[in-house]
Amino acid sequence: MELLDQIEQHKKDIESFVAGNGDAAESFRIKYLGTKGIVKNIMQEMKHVPNDKKKEAGQLLNEFKKFTEEKYETLKAESSPLTAHSAEAIDYTLPGDDVTIGTRHPLSIVRNRIISIFNRLGFVLAEGPEIEDDWHNFTSMNMPENHTARDMQDTFYVQKNPDWLLRTHTSSVQARVMEKQKPPIRIICPGRVYRNETISARAHCFFHQVEGLYVDENVSFADLKQTLYFFVQEMFGKAVKIRFRPSYFPFTEPSAEMDIDCLICHGKGCNVCKHTGWVEILGSGMVHPNVLNNFGIDPEKYTGFAFGMGMERICQLKYRVNDLRLYSQDDVRFLKQFAGVIY
Ligand code: DAH
Repeated sequence: MELLDQIEQHKKDIESFVAGNGDAAESFRIKYLGTKGIVKNIMQEMKHVPNDKKKEAGQLLNEFKKFTEEKYETLKAESSPLTAHSAEAIDYTLPGDDVTIGTRHPLSIVRNRIISIFNRLGFVLAEGPEIEDDWHNFTSMNMPENHTARDMQDTFYVQKNPDWLLRTHTSSVQARVMEKQKPPIRIICPGRVYRNETISARAHCFFHQVEGLYVDENVSFADLKQTLYFFVQEMFGKAVKIRFRPSYFPFTEPSAEMDIDCLICHGKGCNVCKHTGWVEILGSGMVHPNVLNNFGIDPEKYTGFAFGMGMERICQLKYRVNDLRLYSQDDVRFLKQFAGVIY
């Protein structure tokens, strides 16, 4: 039978077909299995097969088709890059590729930690814009017009008259919250702040603060002290010592700064504590009545405390980072050291 001979010949050709490269499988497919390919052509022959031979011929053709398809699959597998090289060519003793695990930025670790500690005391997260107006950053916070912090030397103004500026502290978030919400208020606000300073190991034109505010009936200075004491114990361990020093901030009265004993030298004297054994970590105080009045909160009925701390300072004490510039240089060697720190 002529058809049988044809099929036998094609089978021989197919068996000796070798895949040279990736295209071999594709040219095979086009030649044999394409719409104008050999398999299709041979199928056409069916119509010339006499009726009594049709069944036999049909089986033969189906087998041929299957045979061709299998060859195509083999060619495809052989030409794929995974199997193109023999198994012996793979050296299993070579070290594997490094899998680099991402790390959290140390400031993010510290921020998350601070938020979580205050969350446990009922403080909720609050945020405000980094581009602020004069009212929220200065005026409403009882900062008189001639206050030094307003100085052009310190503040980055985006626009004058009306004034738009990069917030110089997160105290502006106090204003943002009090204008919308009435007591009880208990918020914690981390964020970036900006000051026009020359960049060095100890100063930067942007850094991070965390602001806290608690306003309610009967909030006292004792609450302030105990809250902050709880915070540092959770942050640095139960053994940490604190001290409060009287201070001045326009938005609090009375005001105090809080120091903790130097965790770097434990009182022996080092650069971080300037050989005093104490390190200042935050400013705080009882919210000034003028500030409460600015937001329609009656200072006769409500009192509150507020505090603000530098996140970089906490990070310095916790992780011994001694150059502020490291935080924003994106140096992988620095960041890699925080691998595995969870917060
Ligand atoms: N805003 C102050 C600063 O940037 C820090 C501060 C001090 C915040 C006392 C407060 C506070 O809420 O009560 O230096």
